Amino acid sequence: VRTSLVISSPIEELMELTAQSLCQLDIKEHFNVIKEIGRGKYGRVLLVTHRCRGTPMALKVLPKASTKLKGFLREYCISLHLSHHPCIVGLFGIAFQSDEHYGFAQELVVGRDLFAVIQPRVGIPECAVKRCAVQVASALEFIHQLGLVHRDIKPENVLLLDSHCRRVKLADFGLTQKRGTFIRFIKGTLPYMPPELCAMVLEDGQEEVKAPPLSVEPSLDTWAFGVLLFCILTGFFPWDCCMHTDDFYQEFADWRQDPEKTPVPSQWKRFTPTCMKMFGRLLELDANERCLPEEVKGFLGKEWVRSQGLNGLMEDSEKISTTSALSPCKSSPVLQGEGFKTFYRNASPIKACVKHCALVRV
Ligand SMILES: Nc1ncnc2c1ncn2[C@@H]1O[C@H](COP(=O)(O)OP(=O)(O)O)[C@@H](O)[C@H]1O
Ligand SMILES: [Mg+2]
Repeated sequence: VRTSLVISSPIEELMELTAQSLCQLDIKEHFNVIKEIGRGKYGRVLLVTHRCRGTPMALKVLPKASTKLKGFLREYCISLHLSHHPCIVGLFGIAFQSDEHYGFAQELVVGRDLFAVIQPRVGIPECAVKRCAVQVASALEFIHQLGLVHRDIKPENVLLLDSHCRRVKLADFGLTQKRGTFIRFIKGTLPYMPPELCAMVLEDGQEEVKAPPLSVEPSLDTWAFGVLLFCILTGFFPWDCCMHTDDFYQEFADWRQDPEKTPVPSQWKRFTPTCMKMFGRLLELDANERCLPEEVKGFLGKEWVRSQGLNGLMEDSEKISTTSALSPCKSSPVLQGEGFKTFYRNASPIKACVKHCALVRV
């Protein structure tokens, strides 16, 4: 007689064990809370020291009111499973629940996140972008090799150990899923979402999405990684969302479909042909043709952003006017004040994105 064995993945096994041993504690009794150091869509991150040992830690706390136990266990266990990679945030192996929160202790990363160092309309220096690119690509390669997809690649989730991006660490595994999981619909879009995901938006009043369920694949991360690189190189989003109603996206899509006959959209003219080749691979419209993030490593040796004095050295086909290379994208002014951030948090993502391609936390 055959016995049927239920084989669970290491993450599922870890989730089961954690669920059995999740301790109940009062945060203030065990940790000295110094201040809040971060806040995302799902949780808050607190700078604390451990009351017994004095160790500084970053405590991620998720309100029970808006977090399912299974979702918390998945985020914690995936984070723990990945945490030994040098470009992924470390964990202490402490998970708990209080009356109102689920929480876990992370390595404290002192240099803020990547979003905080982007200068609006300007970005960050190319050498720092390249240092980030190679480290985020390594983290993604590792995640993808384990059959997972991060699904929330954006500058806010890249933590800096120093302000020059010499060491960076990928964080926030709250949306991470196993490759091959199906998405039936999404509510709202972000500038980092690829076209195939934006096609899954369920509009208000709509019963179901026309597109068939979408399989979660590493190509989702590749696209988001491409958008992240554009954001940090320029200080702008390339578009608000990948839908035909978005002029900036449509212009890019037209150019990708017929690069011989269509001019490079103006906000992309600042990049060298090598860099555009890289963006073409990362932001391939067809998800099946898209490269893996690690392909970026092959482009590190060449310049990415055209320099002012280069025009004379370029082939005629590569020549561009200095003004178009150096003027900011024709996408709109950056509104980065606190007032706008508050507005943004309260607005639905779609409405907020109508504020053109201003770089704001999303
Ligand atoms: N280990 C850490 N050290 C320092 N700051 C962190 C750490 N983890 C997260 N943060 C900050 O907190 C913010 C929110 O954390 P995150 O895990 O992304 O939460 P959410 O799932 O709500 O997006 C991040 O964007 C970052 O600025
Ligand atoms: Mg986050």
